[in-house]
Amino acid sequence: MSSSSARKIFVGGNWKCNPSTKAAVSTLCETLNGAPAFPGNCQVVVCPTALHLGTVQDKLKRGDIELGVQNVWKDAKAGAWTGELTCDLVKDFGAKWVVLGHSERRHTVSHESSALIGEKVATTLAAGLSVIACVGEQLADRKAGTTMDIVVEQLAPIVAATPAEAWSDRMVIAYEPVWAIGTGVVATPEQAQETHANIRAWLRGKIGDKADQARIIYGGSVTAANCSDLIKREDIDGFLVGGASLKPEFINIVSSATLKAKM
Ligand code: PGA
Repeated sequence: MSSSSARKIFVGGNWKCNPSTKAAVSTLCETLNGAPAFPGNCQVVVCPTALHLGTVQDKLKRGDIELGVQNVWKDAKAGAWTGELTCDLVKDFGAKWVVLGHSERRHTVSHESSALIGEKVATTLAAGLSVIACVGEQLADRKAGTTMDIVVEQLAPIVAATPAEAWSDRMVIAYEPVWAIGTGVVATPEQAQETHANIRAWLRGKIGDKADQARIIYGGSVTAANCSDLIKREDIDGFLVGGASLKPEFINIVSSATLKAKM
């Protein structure tokens, strides 16, 4: 049994390559500025494009949203890495979080291997940054009953690269079934809870009691309409939100943290 109330809820907004203008980014920041204070038990992080970090830093007028980027290169230092971002750059620009292993990088954009993602996790944590590490099966895997095989293959290098001290705050695992990302087909609370519990049980075998501190968040078509049923589940510690993080409903998704506090 994990002690879910001891874990701070985490809600991340993964803006991907949206919005496509600085003006629209400013409007999104104004929407967030207008939201009431976030629940005290919820940590909120938004990850704009790296090009928009400065705009977001200028426009976002609240101290309760941390900033992240959507990828880094596996070497932290300045160097000949055309088109990449290094941890040193990310730190200098004041972002704290890095999304690693997103399915769009594993499967769609650049076919990153689990081993490469593990190297990136090690570099990012060693640089003092924090990580949202994404894992998740494709539809064929779920149909074949191999969800945990896939998830464990992805998790193993992430866990190997994570020092024990990072689990309570600087490492967040995002379980994102690929078939749910951007499709409007959300995992049911039962499906999500089952996989989250399986992940935590597997983690316990690797990191012992630290598994009870590890935040495991769900991502894939999270909306204001479906977040309440998901957040009430024992092993769901928050969300990684794509499409809905670009809309005012992101604020409602953050507010769902209060439901966990009441449990
Ligand atoms: P979605 O994206 O909420 O649009 O499904 C989630 C993600 O890619 O992290």
